[in-house]
Amino acid sequence: MSLETDFIVIGSGVAGLRSAIELAETGARVTVLTKDKTSESNTEYAQGGVAVVLSEDDEAALHEEDTLIAGAGLCDERAVETLVVEGTKYIKQLIDWGTEFDKDGGRLVFTQEAAHSRRRILHAHGDSTGKEIVRALIARARQEKTILLMPFANTESLIVSGGRCAGVRFLDPILRSPREIYAKAVIMCTGGAGQLYQHTTNPPVATGDGMAMAYFAGAEMADMEFVQFHPTALNLENAPRFLLSEAMRGEGGVLRNYAGERFMERYDERLELAPRDIVSRSIVAEMRKTGTRSVFLDMTAMSESFLKERFPKIYDTCLFFGLNIAADLLPVSPASHYCMGGVRTDLWGRTTLAGLYAAGEVTCTGVHGANRLASNSLLEGLVFGARAGKAAFKDSGDWLALSGRSEDSKFKIQNPKSAEISVAVRKRVKRVMWERVGILRDKDSLQRALKEFDQIRRSNLGTLSRNFVTVATLITRAALWREESRGGHFRTDFPETLENWRVHSIQKQGGEVSGAEKIEFS
Ligand code: FAD
Ligand code: SIN
Repeated sequence: MSLETDFIVIGSGVAGLRSAIELAETGARVTVLTKDKTSESNTEYAQGGVAVVLSEDDEAALHEEDTLIAGAGLCDERAVETLVVEGTKYIKQLIDWGTEFDKDGGRLVFTQEAAHSRRRILHAHGDSTGKEIVRALIARARQEKTILLMPFANTESLIVSGGRCAGVRFLDPILRSPREIYAKAVIMCTGGAGQLYQHTTNPPVATGDGMAMAYFAGAEMADMEFVQFHPTALNLENAPRFLLSEAMRGEGGVLRNYAGERFMERYDERLELAPRDIVSRSIVAEMRKTGTRSVFLDMTAMSESFLKERFPKIYDTCLFFGLNIAADLLPVSPASHYCMGGVRTDLWGRTTLAGLYAAGEVTCTGVHGANRLASNSLLEGLVFGARAGKAAFKDSGDWLALSGRSEDSKFKIQNPKSAEISVAVRKRVKRVMWERVGILRDKDSLQRALKEFDQIRRSNLGTLSRNFVTVATLITRAALWREESRGGHFRTDFPETLENWRVHSIQKQGGEVSGAEKIEFS
């Protein structure tokens, strides 16, 4: 039997939880479907912190300017202004809801990260900012009686009826079978797609499902070519690419090559605090020059007691892998980290498909342009999560959730071998993405990647693998279309940034990639 609620939120990271709380405050019933346990998300692992204009020497205009510069000419100014100005209000609210950011003598402390002109990054428990935000948001959500949190409910596709998104299909965790749920509106908050790459800082849930679901349902996608590679993921044999926060460089950490040379001065006058795309490419250049697979992050100028207190999680994790961050050089290399592109939305989270709203990393709001400024993402989830909730409620008015089955309501029978196929497909896609659609790309590598993805798509894939390879294809197509280099997208065959390419890439099912001046469409 199908289910019915007022609003469906998919995902329980910062964007999903914030949006669910906003909706529940109206008295509406909200069902939050999430793939794993409720706390599992990119948000949970956020380390460095959240950027916000709250310190005495800071102002909104400066944060806006830093965001626009990092975005390399592709941010939408209204989106950036919304993020920065409303961000302060939502962070204060988060503090009122019990979030404990680090303080010194009762005053909030702010750290420095790359490309910020002020120390404006709030953090919690040193390097566990995301975990603290998730804790506070889940506690707040649990106070709302109309929010139903449904963990381990993997959503596979959206139900569209009469040109409107009317619900979703998901795997019921209790019945262990496919199920449909209908609502007045769906808010997609499924996060990013770092797992598309062989090396990533993202947890296993970040497979881009929401992007694929929205695309197949008919929504437009924007700026998919812009993927951010974080410069400093721990690179040890048999260890995950654990993130070594940019805040470590913000506190004075330096990068050295295998010869022990501090090399960033050869690439950018901002040294280790240059934007991430520049630091990542500089590391790749050094690794190529020295024929090695990593460079080193050197924190040894700082005392062990300071590092232990400031970065407790990183300190313990590195120690687990046999490294003392106060004494050892830490082998690092870039890894996929964040998707600037995603489902195209206006400033209220409306997508181009009626009834479908989206917020957080799954979207492209125009806030990040071609490259996200560090620590702007948690802020984005709060601001645009709340906005999407407000808009979904306001727009749906007297709309009634459909009950019963929609005209396209059929589940595909899964191939019994689909779990095995899925692992193999993902492994292949991840390798191709890393080698051919990675930090450096060119026409030949991108065309070869597309050919492989076409081949994979022609085999009998289950929904999850189909979604995975579809997002890989969208990124690759957009990267091939953009014949210039800008922000996170670097074409070795088109290394210049060109004024005539100051446009957003837009993709829709059944169409070619096209350009648009703005992300906002209404
Ligand atoms: P997420 O937090 O990723 O949540 C997505 C949710 O959707 C999850 O609950 C997931 O389970 C669910 N989901 C996914 N697919 C499905 C499906 N098919 N069905 C049901 N549910 C689904 N940003 C900062 O601003 N500051 C930082 O310090 C920072 N540090 C970071 C450190 C790391 C290691 C990583 C990986 C990212 C970091 N980021 C940071 C980026 C930031 O954490 C994310 O961009 C942000 O948290 C995204 O929030 P979100 O709510 O959009 O998505
Ligand atoms: C980090 O701590 O380096 C991650 C910050 C971010 O991705 O915004």
